[in-house]
Amino acid sequence: MSASDATTKNLEELTPREIVNRLDNYIIGQHKAKKAVAIALRNRTRRLKLPKEIREEIAPKNILMIGPTGVGKTEIARRLAKLCGAPFLKVEATKYTEVGYVGRDVESMIRDLMAVGYNVVKAEMQEQMKSSAEEKVEEALLDLLLPGSAPKQKNDTPSSEMNLPAFTDVTNSHFAEQPAAAAGDMSATREKFRQMLREGKLDEREVEVNVSRRPQGPTMEIFAGGNIEDLESTMMNLTNMISGSRSKKKLVTVKEAREIIIAEQLDKMIDPDKVCDEAKRRVEQMGIIFIDEIDKIAVRGERGGGQDVSREGVQRDILPIVEGSNVNTKYGVVDTTHILFIAAGAFSVSKPSDLIPELQGRFPLRVELESLNAEDFRRILLEPKNALIKQYTELLATEGVTIKFNDDAINRMSSLAEDVNTRMENIGARRLHTIMENLLEDLSFEADAHAGETIEITADYVDEHMKDVVQDQDLSKYIL
Ligand SMILES: Nc1ncnc2c1ncn2[C@@H]1O[C@H](COP(=O)(O)OP(=O)(O)OP(=O)(O)O)[C@@H](O)[C@H]1O
Ligand SMILES: [Mg+2]
Repeated sequence: MSASDATTKNLEELTPREIVNRLDNYIIGQHKAKKAVAIALRNRTRRLKLPKEIREEIAPKNILMIGPTGVGKTEIARRLAKLCGAPFLKVEATKYTEVGYVGRDVESMIRDLMAVGYNVVKAEMQEQMKSSAEEKVEEALLDLLLPGSAPKQKNDTPSSEMNLPAFTDVTNSHFAEQPAAAAGDMSATREKFRQMLREGKLDEREVEVNVSRRPQGPTMEIFAGGNIEDLESTMMNLTNMISGSRSKKKLVTVKEAREIIIAEQLDKMIDPDKVCDEAKRRVEQMGIIFIDEIDKIAVRGERGGGQDVSREGVQRDILPIVEGSNVNTKYGVVDTTHILFIAAGAFSVSKPSDLIPELQGRFPLRVELESLNAEDFRRILLEPKNALIKQYTELLATEGVTIKFNDDAINRMSSLAEDVNTRMENIGARRLHTIMENLLEDLSFEADAHAGETIEITADYVDEHMKDVVQDQDLSKYIL
């Protein structure tokens, strides 16, 4: 099964309902937003099944997620990317500046996405080749342990590929001195060593390997990019090329040598061009770019000078990319037409209508995320796979302390979160993080002294530990 089959199959199972179900594992509520992203994702799978002419016509419906801070915008995007295996990049709109200003140009997001795609595809291909690489590694390790023991007829074995002469064995050199007449003995010894190797008995033995730092990826194509960052890496690669790939001998254990040789072997087995092609295909057809903090580049009301002009410039620079244009990357030219863009922002100061009209029009799907209340907080504490309660319980368990939260305590914490959010800044679910930290501060500090104990966190415990902060408005402003 090729790398692309794997993802297509995965995508096939991801019906909108299934996507929402999976998102439910991590995000509480926000059903509308989940539904919107699920549909957008499914539409791309659907599009890929259409005949070419129609397929080209269907552009993704970009999404604008609007909602107060800390209610799950970024989290939804992150989880979405994880579950569909599509190349995904999250960027902050504020990081970019208009062309000509100092800072990152907007096109760099496509280059970054392509780099993500490249690495994902490469990792997948390496995974597929791992078993065949491992076979070769075993031979190479045996050559290291028993130089000259390789059967003669196997001239094309990896041992020759691996530049055997460069490896010199130091710990077992007496084997190397055995007369050639003992070839039969040799192969018997080799088999014996093979057995020991497989059982891990030789793991701690030391051998000498050549560690080379070869430049990663396709070297020459880098010139195509034509931007500062790529130029820098080009220079580095050039230096490497001129000085010859730097390699040096290193004394390592067999266990470490295995890792080094596997990495080298995999590097050799993988064709960067193939990786490039597949990565490009995936990025163009399934790539997702999440632009966070988009509200920060909106300009409110009257357009002023200075920074506002630059912000608007960034919006203008984003337009062609969202619309579909060709961007030069070191992996080749990438067409952005079918990349899905999800923009998100709190829009507390500015409004979506403060974005330049052309950009507004390119994000036709609007979803609003709701702010969270005590009941949501209660569920957030308990239900997600990575729920805070679970995290802290596990953390303390490493010190032998068992903590148990009872229902009252959880309720108390959730209403406290809601309360503080309304009284002061509404920072959404992030409030739970500060509350948890505060609540368990003492316990975390002296956990070692409580090893073996079971500590029940009750509503009283919460009151007791939070009372200072809760009663004193000023204090809570700083602490929670
Ligand atoms: N609905 C939710 N369900 C579960 N966890 C949530 C939810 N909303 C937020 N969280 C948690 O709160 C934290 C912040 O959420 P997130 O990063 O998604 O905020 P955001 O909406 O992107 O805010 P901002 O506008 O500040 O970027 C994360 O740790 C996330 O897991
Ligand atoms: Mg965010």
